[in-house]
Amino acid sequence: MFDLIPETSLGHIHAERRPGNAAERVLSKDAFDRACAEITAWPGYEKTPLHALDALATAIGVDAVLYKHEGARFGLGSFKALGGAFAAQRVLQREVSLRKGWKVSLSEIRAGRFARECAEITLVSATDGNHGRSLAWGCKRFGAPCRIYIHAEVSEGRAEAMRALGAEVIRIEGDYDASVALAKQEAEENGWFVVSDTSWPGYSAPPLDVMSGYGVMTREICDDLATPPSHVFLQGGVGGLAAGVAAGLRQRWGEKAPRVVIVEPDRAACLFESARRGEATTVAIEEETIMAGLSCGEPSELAWEILAEEASDFLTLPDATIAPTVRLLARPLGNDPVIEAGESAVAGLSALIAARQNEALSKALGLDESSRVLLIGSEGVTDRAIFDAIMEERDAA
Ligand SMILES: Cc1ncc(COP(=O)(O)O)c(C=O)c1O
Repeated sequence: MFDLIPETSLGHIHAERRPGNAAERVLSKDAFDRACAEITAWPGYEKTPLHALDALATAIGVDAVLYKHEGARFGLGSFKALGGAFAAQRVLQREVSLRKGWKVSLSEIRAGRFARECAEITLVSATDGNHGRSLAWGCKRFGAPCRIYIHAEVSEGRAEAMRALGAEVIRIEGDYDASVALAKQEAEENGWFVVSDTSWPGYSAPPLDVMSGYGVMTREICDDLATPPSHVFLQGGVGGLAAGVAAGLRQRWGEKAPRVVIVEPDRAACLFESARRGEATTVAIEEETIMAGLSCGEPSELAWEILAEEASDFLTLPDATIAPTVRLLARPLGNDPVIEAGESAVAGLSALIAARQNEALSKALGLDESSRVLLIGSEGVTDRAIFDAIMEERDAA
């Protein structure tokens, strides 16, 4: 057995796929089309690379490891650039249309035709960093004031990146879920608009726009691949990334779409727990995980609707494998490309390697030498100080 990362045991639940149409019903093809048409027209749009990590694939005994590296997305460091900024633009479109009494287009908001109106519409959100950065960037481009609520553990580097984009950043004492609650409450009191990447009963339009924005990434992947992969490992926070990608893959490849494996930190496994209970379930976060972007105790209702049908397996992962996996990408095997990735980006890859170190788990997940596994490298280096510290650490013996 190879020892690329320390051997570890993962939690695993296999959930039979429930046949249904959530992948089309919740996130329609039209919603994906609209988001793709708009986002690909933004200045600076460039497709991100899908790297084939061949030496790594050989080392862990699979046919292919395909790593979509989102580090360069719009210069913001993560796939989240696609979601929050687009949802901000859609809120402004809806609100300006209401105030004007006619339907304003996304391209008019993009072109700054209603800058005066946008300047009076305050957008707010809670974040662990990446969603807030996307929202702050969108607000800056469209001229709307932005307030971002962060929890106690969000790094100062990530807070600073949002301030640099003009957002007012409010740090609270509690955890991510407490920051979501405060953002909601203050928005209600002040007539501000919440642009969240997670949905709850009665709140669905922005999270749907966020997830349809992620469809740009899925379309780029599908355009790059002649045949579907056998598996996709998707890391979960509230589940928006996983649901958006799973829905896009199902729409493109139908019954040939890859087996969907959800990966979460064992300290914040709300989707795992939802799978166990058969319904969206909130868990208490007792200790923060190093995977800051995945530290969510409450799943997105809409994301769960899709994942309940689309995901076949749910895994939980301890923190210990993350730093070694970041180092493995940065100091790659053979001729594999050098990739600088953040802690949340490598969760899927880390779980894949750990699963290949364990025969029984590999078998349960249907992984073997013929598997072609797609991974979403959801962030690059979003906090240089954290990355440098990880690179300086040595792997535990
Ligand atoms: C880098 C990164 N990866 C994955 C995720 C998970 O996305 P979601 O919360 O939509 O499940 C996040 C969320 O913030 C993130 O920042």
